[in-house]
Amino acid sequence: MLGIVYSGAISGIDGMAVRVEADISDGLPQFDMVGFLASEVREARERVRTAIKNTGFQLLPKRYTINLSPADLRKEGNGFDLPIAVAVLVASGVIPQELTEGCMMFGELGLDGTLRPINGTLSLVTEAKEIGFQRCIVPRDNELEGSVVEGIDVYGLESLRAVVDFLAGPDRFCPGVTDVTTLLQEAAARSTEDFSDINGQLAAKRATEIAAAGFHNILYIGPPGSGKSMLARRLPSILPRLTLSEALEITKIYSICGLLPREKALVCERPFRSPHHTISMQALTGGGRTPKPGEISLANRGVLFLDELPEFNKATLEVLRQPLEEHKIILSRVRGSCQYPANCQLVAAMNPCSCGYYPDRARCSCSLADVNRYLGRISQPLLDRLDICIEVPRLEYSDLTGTGQCGESSEDIRMRVEEAVKRQQARYNSEKILFNSQLSPMQIKKYCRLGKNQQELLRQAFQNMNLSARAYHRIIKVSRTIADLGDSETIREQHICEAIGYRSFDREVWR
Ligand SMILES: Nc1ncnc2c1ncn2[C@@H]1O[C@H](COP(=O)(O)OP(=O)(O)OP(=O)(O)O)[C@@H](O)[C@H]1O
Ligand SMILES: [Mg+2]
Repeated sequence: MLGIVYSGAISGIDGMAVRVEADISDGLPQFDMVGFLASEVREARERVRTAIKNTGFQLLPKRYTINLSPADLRKEGNGFDLPIAVAVLVASGVIPQELTEGCMMFGELGLDGTLRPINGTLSLVTEAKEIGFQRCIVPRDNELEGSVVEGIDVYGLESLRAVVDFLAGPDRFCPGVTDVTTLLQEAAARSTEDFSDINGQLAAKRATEIAAAGFHNILYIGPPGSGKSMLARRLPSILPRLTLSEALEITKIYSICGLLPREKALVCERPFRSPHHTISMQALTGGGRTPKPGEISLANRGVLFLDELPEFNKATLEVLRQPLEEHKIILSRVRGSCQYPANCQLVAAMNPCSCGYYPDRARCSCSLADVNRYLGRISQPLLDRLDICIEVPRLEYSDLTGTGQCGESSEDIRMRVEEAVKRQQARYNSEKILFNSQLSPMQIKKYCRLGKNQQELLRQAFQNMNLSARAYHRIIKVSRTIADLGDSETIREQHICEAIGYRSFDREVWR
């Protein structure tokens, strides 16, 4: 007899439907599994047989063949135990085939038949809904996460026995409910670090606000203890609130990596990832024999903070170049390739020289050659990708102690940022982008029209500063954001001058 049950595998951050077939026929007692299986899926054989026995059903001494289709999709992860067990029970005649219709299921089985949590529930349930299933069975611990998806009933069950009971009478069970709108609103109210903690540094704060409003990459340069790391860590508190689709995309990535806490249904805050400078290339970009997202994807829709930039391995930094432009990373391996989103805001901080105090000659004795060598650890192409480069100078004593100096709270700044973001979203509603930093050269022509004076300013800057075409486009994008912050539909000269200012610093220092 044949039993058929539907389940899913993960490819990149998306779920793909998998049909699980079980056949029982006469012959030597065997339990064979086929279908391009990873080793953890092969091991399901032992778990499934024991779990079925310990749930109180008997497996006959016959030949069992399990096939997971499509055969060209590699099946990885621990979610196939449950569908295999149910397919076997259907083939054995314990569960009628028609009871499994319209239902997808995932879960790892313990030897006693308990259902254990899996990774990637959100992606799998989303796929189930998209291809028209009405119900999903998931392990109890994954119910919160699965029920974020609207338009499909998600049931969190605790054991194989409960699954059999559920299929016999689903009306006696209630699906999980998660109110995503409330979750997102509650998350917005929580913020630990605030901009009002930072004294002085008005120029750096302004640059940070522009970076937040247009999702621009930013580099802070300055002596030790001037507040660079402080500024970077407070950037998420002024970034616009997550939309539901952004939150779902982030949650999928965290869930696949097993980083979503069980009590959490959704990642509701923008990620802030701050890897140490000893990080390997693979940990940054993702990869491995079984590909997993790296830091650049974990920072998707949020901040990737590289503190002490020159200390990073140069080759490691260079791999960021392509994903920073394309907002995604494609990992090609022998067994196939997969794609992860990498739409993050790169924030970097560094000292201007190895002692940290250049050009303060009272403290710095580095020769110009030393300074150049230190700065040269960062390549020009990477530098080109940083839209804003801002000096964070040593704090004056009066700034540090002055009481009225603390300035605005993150909430006040975030209000202005949200206004600028609304303007961008209205302008780009027919495009697939949200922020000015994502404009392509074609879109720049369309949305950033410049007057004669503005063009002349840019021409001079291009020639005098020896800019690359990329740097030129980035200046226009930053000007667009500055104009949006100033509620101006046209880009004016002052906007362009300010944007050029955020590039000239890197030129000055890098010479
Ligand atoms: N602008 C500031 N306002 C208030 N406190 C500050 C400011 N700048 C620095 N501090 C204090 O100095 C500490 C160090 O700041 P931070 O870590 O941001 O320095 P940094 O510029 O990153 O230095 P480094 O180059 O050594 O990494 C902070 O924890 C804070 O106590
Ligand atoms: Mg620091």
